Amino acid sequence: MRKPLIIGNWKMNTSLDEARALAEATVQASDDAANAAEVGICPPFPWLVPVSRIADGTSLRIGAQDCAATTNGAFTGDVSADMLASCCSFTLIGHSERRAHHHETDEVVRDKIHNALGAGLGVILCVGETMQQREGGYAADIVTKQLDIALDRVPNDAPGRLSVAYEPVWAIGTGNAATAQDASEMALTIRRGLTAAFGNLNDRVRILYGGSANDTNAADFLGVGEVDGLLVGGASLKPEVFASMIEASRHG
Ligand code: PGA
Repeated sequence: MRKPLIIGNWKMNTSLDEARALAEATVQASDDAANAAEVGICPPFPWLVPVSRIADGTSLRIGAQDCAATTNGAFTGDVSADMLASCCSFTLIGHSERRAHHHETDEVVRDKIHNALGAGLGVILCVGETMQQREGGYAADIVTKQLDIALDRVPNDAPGRLSVAYEPVWAIGTGNAATAQDASEMALTIRRGLTAAFGNLNDRVRILYGGSANDTNAADFLGVGEVDGLLVGGASLKPEVFASMIEASRHG
């Protein structure tokens, strides 16, 4: 059985003081659950170094929210995977907010994954359909395509460092989470795609659910066998709520 993975995505939130306080509270919750679950947080870029100092020597893992698709050079505002590897251990890639606001295509997502893995980082690849795509009946096709292109020619040793987060776009930040049944069905689709990409090694890849996950619904998602963890936005900014979601993963 895969160890549950609970990740907090802080997005563009927190002052430095708030980030420190939140990291300290999350270290506590992470250490309390360390035997049963793995916990990570993705603070904004400028807080990666101060927050990773707080997490140093604890069970809490620190990740970035994105990395560049190229290795170095004239790319104003971008941060490379190699740079990130000096202060964190994994990165989100392909979050729908990056795809929507920064026009990231599946091919850009694929290049970012190659760079991140090449730099020694773990990767949480985000996939998910819009409401229009779901209503049109092709949610599974969209997610399968996102996965296939993103994992094209990914190295064979990737599975141990890769997770896939199913995040339906319509559920993110809306308070309108998918049902555990929706999440479970899509997780099976993703598992099929992972099997096509990695054969037996697919079972090393964890599949997370994200999109308005909170302390009320966490246990439902974690209770369906195919979901190995959660990618949490808004609720990860509330220390008690996030702690109780971490706690739920111990019993999932
Ligand atoms: P949310 O965000 O939990 O606030 O819906 C999830 C995410 O975007 O990763």
